[in-house]
Amino acid sequence: MATFSSPPLFEEYPSLKGSIPWISLVDSPTPVRRLTNLEEYLETDISLWVKEDSLTSSKYGGNKVRKLEFIIADALQKEKNTIATIGGIGTNHGLATTIFGKDHDLKTVLYLIKQPITNHVLNNLKLDYYYGAELRYVKNYIGIGLNFYFLDRLRRKQTYWLSAGGSTPLGVLGYVNAVFELKKQIEKGTLPEPESIFVAAGTTGTMAGLELGIQLNGLRTRVFGVRVTDRMAATAGKVRSLGKKALKILRQDPKLRQLRYRPNFQLIDKFYGGAYGRVTKEASEAVNVIKETEGLSLETTYTGKALAGLFEHVKQRKIKGSIDDEPKSVLFWNTYNSVNLSSIADQVNYKQLPSEFHHLFN
Ligand SMILES: Cc1ncc(COP(=O)(O)O)c(C=O)c1O
Repeated sequence: MATFSSPPLFEEYPSLKGSIPWISLVDSPTPVRRLTNLEEYLETDISLWVKEDSLTSSKYGGNKVRKLEFIIADALQKEKNTIATIGGIGTNHGLATTIFGKDHDLKTVLYLIKQPITNHVLNNLKLDYYYGAELRYVKNYIGIGLNFYFLDRLRRKQTYWLSAGGSTPLGVLGYVNAVFELKKQIEKGTLPEPESIFVAAGTTGTMAGLELGIQLNGLRTRVFGVRVTDRMAATAGKVRSLGKKALKILRQDPKLRQLRYRPNFQLIDKFYGGAYGRVTKEASEAVNVIKETEGLSLETTYTGKALAGLFEHVKQRKIKGSIDDEPKSVLFWNTYNSVNLSSIADQVNYKQLPSEFHHLFN
């Protein structure tokens, strides 16, 4: 697989090379493919596509890897030796940070809060341990506030404090860059310019980056973020704020100095299900359907909910026989890691973890 030696974003704006930290982690471009069996199942003339960010890296895939290209580079440039971050006990972001941080001699400290227990969650905890993360069970937002935002900052000076989900303005650039990658694929004819993109919105950095990337590339695509976390964590205001801050970084390039931020996205609330990680009927159905029709493995916390949103959109927009000339294709952005690390997780006995986590395994 061809990996870009510098990100497509820097090819477009060469002055950013050297002024914005970046290291190569992603096996890019990630593949796109058409989901014809799913089209048939949904009885739609809209062409459906998937962007396989499940394959961002053979070590560990998913959306976090794109963000970490900028974040880890920033931590290294700032001469930090540790990255501390937050998440639920099964955080994919925490695990990705641990795996790729370790490769760059950065230790990881994870501040973890409760979430519904599934095998996936417990496996991620074991993997965090296996890859050397220091695990802190702070249980809830008060614990996070006290330890992550206050007490530990006073004593850990060489630590890079990273927001949940890696959704910082620099992390957002990972998905701005992803749209430049997608644009190349569109220009090559690999897929048509999508009318809309569906993606899970957790801490919203992914959708904020897609949104800004679409604007910079002059695409007509609309981003639909399907909210999978509570209303406080994922708001339209947060998407806009992250987008604006990311654009501010990019304004170092003279071509972007005058660019105004004009977002055109929609945050969809109805598939959340009332709690982070809660398995909903719609998400389970979407996960089963895509597995049966396309052999694609998703999960119910993020990608299943995003796909349920896409299903509804397609059903509402049945366009058989329509003659208008708008682009008619919908892209599902698969943000879920597809590298199976369960045999590694199996090597860890939960009793090796700090004792406050043991009860989760019983
Ligand atoms: C599989 C998966 N999809 C989507 C997301 C959401 O991305 P963001 O937090 O940037 O909204 C996450 C975040 O943890 C994730 O793990």
